[in-house]
Amino acid sequence: LSDLVPLSTLKTLLVEALSLIERAKDLSSLEQLRVRFLGKKSLISLSLKKLKELSLEERKSTGAELHSIRSSVQDALEEKKKALKTGSSSLLLDWDYHCPVYGEEATFHPLTLTMQRLEDIFFQWGCVMVDGPQIESDYYNFTALNIPENHPSRTMHDTFYIQDRVLRTHTSSVQIHAMREWGAPLRAIAMGPTYRCDSDATHSPMFHQLEALWVDKDLNFANLKGVLQELLELFFERKVNMRLRRSFFPFTEPSAEVDIACVLCEGQGCRTCKQTGWLEILGCGMVHPSVLEHGHIDPACYQGFAFGVGVERLAMLKYGLSDLRLFYENDPRFLRQFFR
Ligand code: DAH
Repeated sequence: LSDLVPLSTLKTLLVEALSLIERAKDLSSLEQLRVRFLGKKSLISLSLKKLKELSLEERKSTGAELHSIRSSVQDALEEKKKALKTGSSSLLLDWDYHCPVYGEEATFHPLTLTMQRLEDIFFQWGCVMVDGPQIESDYYNFTALNIPENHPSRTMHDTFYIQDRVLRTHTSSVQIHAMREWGAPLRAIAMGPTYRCDSDATHSPMFHQLEALWVDKDLNFANLKGVLQELLELFFERKVNMRLRRSFFPFTEPSAEVDIACVLCEGQGCRTCKQTGWLEILGCGMVHPSVLEHGHIDPACYQGFAFGVGVERLAMLKYGLSDLRLFYENDPRFLRQFFR
């Protein structure tokens, strides 16, 4: 069986199935998903069929995993079916439960739309979605990411402390959870709220980040650059002129910052890009060997690349907004302008 469909692939498939089921809009698309994931020709059914070719020992452990994957999909389908029949949906609650619903004119929050769009891109590349706590330990937020206590780079993060914990200052903290949970090879993303003590037109004490982490054999900087170029072009739906600038992050070596040609003036120079023609958009690099070690992955066998990007920043560039606070004021005149 392991030659045919590795369990890790089936687990990735499960994550994808659950996400698509949750977002199904009607019963007929739900039925299509049932056929795709549980039908006779689905990977799950084919794998179950293959079980009898395994030794008794393997059949027991693999069989249990396979059955649990199948019943998770079945349960999700059942639950969604009920929700669609009664007209209730948990989707709107997913990201921003402060977003008010205005009768028939209800729309998705622009940040929700941005995150769904990003998710779609990464799921198509076979990434798993991982998560970690927002109230995080110092270890996962800093130490495991090669930021030791008293290191000057900690001051780059204006951290909120809660007793002996921190509100995560970035989604990079999820890297360690992901590596420990899934091992290598790995393609993972994490997306969600992060917190820093900072507030003005372009900073908010709570904002969202997307983190991506690839771990595999023979990964290099060119792979990272290719993924970034593709991501930006899929997200902005056009050709994107991008450049990498040498930078420093404790958890990557080498590290770089990515700029794109200003979306407003196309690189000519304007107020938004401070006349430089470029906008700084994300941080990235090759995962530092000691970070892989903290994730229980052997840096002698595997390399990784990672990047982190602000979701609000992407949304502002995509929709041409200059004030971040619009996202949190929940003014219906603003919110109603965004459609899927
Ligand atoms: N965590 C960084 C920040 O919040 C962003 C970042 C930079 C994430 C480089 C990465 C990376 O994964 O490789 O500023």
